[in-house]
Amino acid sequence: MSTNTQTSTALGLDVGTSRIVAAKRQEKDIQFDSQLNAFVTIPFSKLTQSVLKKEAIPHVVQDSEITVYGDESERFANLFHRETRRPMLRGILNPDEAGSLMLVRQIVELVMGPGEGQGRRVCFSVPAAPLGATDEVNEHESGLKNMLNKMGFDAHPIPEGLAVVYGEMEASNYTGIGISCGGGLCNVCLSYLSVPVFNFSIPKAGDFIDESASQLRGEPATRIRTIKEESFHFNGHFVNKIHQALAAYYDDVIQALVAALKDQFASVQNMPKLTRPIPLVLSGGSVMPPGFRDRFEKSLREIELPVAIAEVRMASNPMVSTARGALVAALSEA
Ligand SMILES: Nc1ncnc2c1ncn2[C@@H]1O[C@H](COP(=O)(O)OP(=O)(O)OP(=O)(O)O)[C@@H](O)[C@H]1O
Ligand SMILES: [Mg+2]
Repeated sequence: MSTNTQTSTALGLDVGTSRIVAAKRQEKDIQFDSQLNAFVTIPFSKLTQSVLKKEAIPHVVQDSEITVYGDESERFANLFHRETRRPMLRGILNPDEAGSLMLVRQIVELVMGPGEGQGRRVCFSVPAAPLGATDEVNEHESGLKNMLNKMGFDAHPIPEGLAVVYGEMEASNYTGIGISCGGGLCNVCLSYLSVPVFNFSIPKAGDFIDESASQLRGEPATRIRTIKEESFHFNGHFVNKIHQALAAYYDDVIQALVAALKDQFASVQNMPKLTRPIPLVLSGGSVMPPGFRDRFEKSLREIELPVAIAEVRMASNPMVSTARGALVAALSEA
């Protein structure tokens, strides 16, 4: 199907552990809409329900509870001194949260905007399976695909690392290494002329940093996360004990990522002959702290890879690379 309407209404969707992001083409620009992939529940009362409705705060009512979801869930969690809960964990639907797929659907509807799918093509991101979790990732993928199809979309999965390559590496003809450091996982793809050579993920990213620092310092993970997002950076000396802990666990993630990259290169068969040095792009919320790029490059330069890396570059907007790449994929197939 390649009508113009289909092309102009194709969508990119990044279903992440931490955030869900939709990308739509608007004339020459791309519009991004994002929401936290999180919720809190509060006790049901008719009054609360009517106030939430009046304030247009996204919620669903179930039995004796009201579930507030998306960005608003953080405000409610802080208000009631609670942690937000997540429909997803380490890149896939959280099997411990009943109704996780229903909540993801609500949040997807928020970022996609009102209206039925009307057969529009949507490419949605899926993680590369961490070691030994292939079945779980396949189940996650088919769960999301069914959900989007039921909403009326023509849904197709794209590995998150490959989406980063599509979103950020047009200039090198989609040749290079795309990395997304998210909440649950770091996803990596080596692509040669838009064809993936390998995709992999490691189960260590932002949530691991928050939880580890939270345990070490005895502070709630949500508070650690806020400190990390608002004030953490790599340079200088850390007088603050929380910053110290964040730096140590960040280093742990970077070391694990670089080691896994080395292992992947060592194990790949039929490696294409890369004649030119290739670029590497860093994206995802966890690459945001100032100094991340330098710290990552330093670790990368300490290992030997069978290809030369031309540059280690930050994505143009690391928070939306995956959604942008999913949109590129959807438009190119439409
Ligand atoms: N300014 C910031 N500084 C540091 N960390 C940040 C910043 N903004 C977001 N993050 C962190 O980025 C992570 C979320 O990144 P992202 O939205 O890319 O993940 P995701 O795609 O939802 O997750 P995944 O890809 O693992 O499923 C969280 O750990 C969050 O705390
Ligand atoms: Mg992600």
